[in-house]
Amino acid sequence: MVSSPDPRWWQSGIVYQVYPRSFQDSNGDGIGDLKGVIARLDYLVWLGVDALWLSPVYPSPMADFGYDVSNYVDIDPIFGSLKDFDRLVAEAQKRGLKVIMDYVPNHTSEAHPWFVESRGSVTSAKRDWYVWRDAAPGGGPPNNWLSEFGGSAWTWDDATGQYYYHAYLPQQPDLNWRNPAVRAAMYDILHFWFARGVDGFRIDTVHHLFEEPSLADNPANPDFTPGMAPTLALDRRHQYDQPEVHDALKEMRAIADTYGERVLIGEVYLPLDRIVTYYGADLTGVHLPFNFHLIGAAWQAKVLADLITRYEALLPDSAWPNWVLGNHDRARVASRVGPKAARTAAMLLLTLRGTPTLYYGDEIGMTDGAIPPEKVQDPWEKRVPGFGFGRDPVRTPMAWTAEPGAGFTTGEPWLPLNDIASRNVAAQQTQKSSLLALYRALIATRRKEPALSIGAYGKVEARGDVLVYERHHGARRLAVILNLADSAVYTPLEGAGAPLLSTYLDESHESVGPLIRLRPHEGLIVEVSREA
Ligand code: NOJ
Repeated sequence: MVSSPDPRWWQSGIVYQVYPRSFQDSNGDGIGDLKGVIARLDYLVWLGVDALWLSPVYPSPMADFGYDVSNYVDIDPIFGSLKDFDRLVAEAQKRGLKVIMDYVPNHTSEAHPWFVESRGSVTSAKRDWYVWRDAAPGGGPPNNWLSEFGGSAWTWDDATGQYYYHAYLPQQPDLNWRNPAVRAAMYDILHFWFARGVDGFRIDTVHHLFEEPSLADNPANPDFTPGMAPTLALDRRHQYDQPEVHDALKEMRAIADTYGERVLIGEVYLPLDRIVTYYGADLTGVHLPFNFHLIGAAWQAKVLADLITRYEALLPDSAWPNWVLGNHDRARVASRVGPKAARTAAMLLLTLRGTPTLYYGDEIGMTDGAIPPEKVQDPWEKRVPGFGFGRDPVRTPMAWTAEPGAGFTTGEPWLPLNDIASRNVAAQQTQKSSLLALYRALIATRRKEPALSIGAYGKVEARGDVLVYERHHGARRLAVILNLADSAVYTPLEGAGAPLLSTYLDESHESVGPLIRLRPHEGLIVEVSREA
């Protein structure tokens, strides 16, 4: 729990995730694009974030909306061109913003020339670039592994008489990371974009890079109960988190390090004690293995205090923490915790120790949109309907204004707009106590107060519905007090000075002796004068 002596931009800074299809359309086709992102860079500067992470913009058949890449060194015409991308990087740099790309190493699109060649014949030079296997002795897939998106993880290829493996869609064949030629080709891609000036990569589904080599069947999921989606019937342990992943990440890290201050962020959906292994031995893995545990956490002070304490205890020495409240795959925070608690959630995210990642639209409280059946786009929902896996609700276009098209498009948006009249950027920019104003104030406070961005923790505790933690840097000590209840509470805070910021964005706080009063769902950042 020590302060970081020499923070890097990716430690003190704030990352903002742009889902490019849904951020800003510049040509009226209803789909966001790079020119649109460029047009909104000033908004990101105004908000105060440091870096934008772009979900994939590579050429893709869009079976999984860009996470099925058919060319890693170009831009899909839907999003623009390499020239647009270069301009985005230049315009971002001009404004002091970093650009983080998505890197999808686990699988390509089935339309990638590597896979086309690989499936051409069993003797193809690229056959071993993917995971091909014969049918089981009695016929059928080589083992019982399931795809994350439903059904078997194996697809039969009639022409060459073998199955290929895909952790996700059949249109997303897994690369064989045990093949050195695959590794070399995938590393060339890192060089390509680093040399073009990108500041880092968010690496898709890193824990899936390797599979258990003997292809042992997966055991049953002991937590499976009837009524759960059939795709959850097995414990997928043999399909991910294999030891070799750390060698591959070390190789990627070595490349990143040759380019100076770049960052690698790993997408790792695993328990906390496994996530922390992705920092690598002696911190030679990714700089930030994403910590998604706030997303699934019950919104209770004790649960959150325990989560913070446990994560901090598990972090390797000098490893830098990070926190995420939402992304393009999970329910939006305003829907998970409700609109009132979304304000204390914002304060939590922006005052915890570690790099925060914001998901576009969460700063205005966008909720999960209703998607009529005929508008469903997400392949996960289409393959496993009715279990709430669909991700369209969290990908609805950014609500910039209340006008038709939401200021997002002049055309027909690719997903329905979501209640833009009650939540949009333009309106919230004029409202003094809007959620957007709160995000902006929190970001500014975090920037001004090293105790919040890079400081150490003092105590972290739950007092009933109140979560309290202290952050300090040098002599500066701040307490963050979050009332997660819908009623007012009093809580003691010795040495409390004036609050720096309330989630109500007003000055009406009250102290009664050593007790501080918190209104329903109020969060406060308070200066503390005593030594902890
Ligand atoms: C994780 C990404 O976040 C998700 O959107 C995608 O569908 C899968 N990986 C497969 O690439």
